[in-house]
Amino acid sequence: MDWFAKAFIRASLLWFIAGITLGLAMAIHPAWVMYRPAHAHMNLMGFVVMMIFGVGYQMLPRFFGHPIHSRTFAVAHIWLANLGLAALVGGFMLSPHIGADAIPVTATGGTLWALGAYGFVYNMWRTFNAAERRRRLNEQAAPARKLPTSD
Ligand code: HEM
Repeated sequence: MDWFAKAFIRASLLWFIAGITLGLAMAIHPAWVMYRPAHAHMNLMGFVVMMIFGVGYQMLPRFFGHPIHSRTFAVAHIWLANLGLAALVGGFMLSPHIGADAIPVTATGGTLWALGAYGFVYNMWRTFNAAERRRRLNEQAAPARKLPTSD
């Protein structure tokens, strides 16, 4: 398994623990519901989306039968996603206390996370295109014989 896929899955599980813990804290101490955006993003961008990134980096290139377009992008993505989310969540937690002064923190975190996500889409797109190109070349060299079906 690629180490960057493992790193995303580990990060996802850690964000899950953090998101659950903040949710539990909000249930025990309802005044902390002001931290709801931090809770939502730890669970959705941290747990759910990072799990999808990790499983996606491992499985999608294998489904398409072609190595990933850029391992460098994938490694950069780990840092962009985790540092970005930490800043976004930090900004959301500061916001009820310092108001608009938290905007540069959320904006920076959101930008880093978004750059990583755009890179993921680009990386997967290039991988799929390369797989399709190779499949077409192989087919020209040795046309695949389709199994007969009733239609
Ligand atoms: C770069 C990525 C993202 C940025 C910068 C961002 C930013 C924001 C902001 C500024 C809000 C309003 C928070 C408030 O009410 O004070 C919000 C709300 C929300 N976002 Fe995101 N978001 C991002 C990605 C996502 C993703 C990927 C998901 C889901 C998978 C998501 C789910 C939500 C939900 C559910 C809310 C409502 C939270 C609530 O009601 O408290 N966001 N987001």
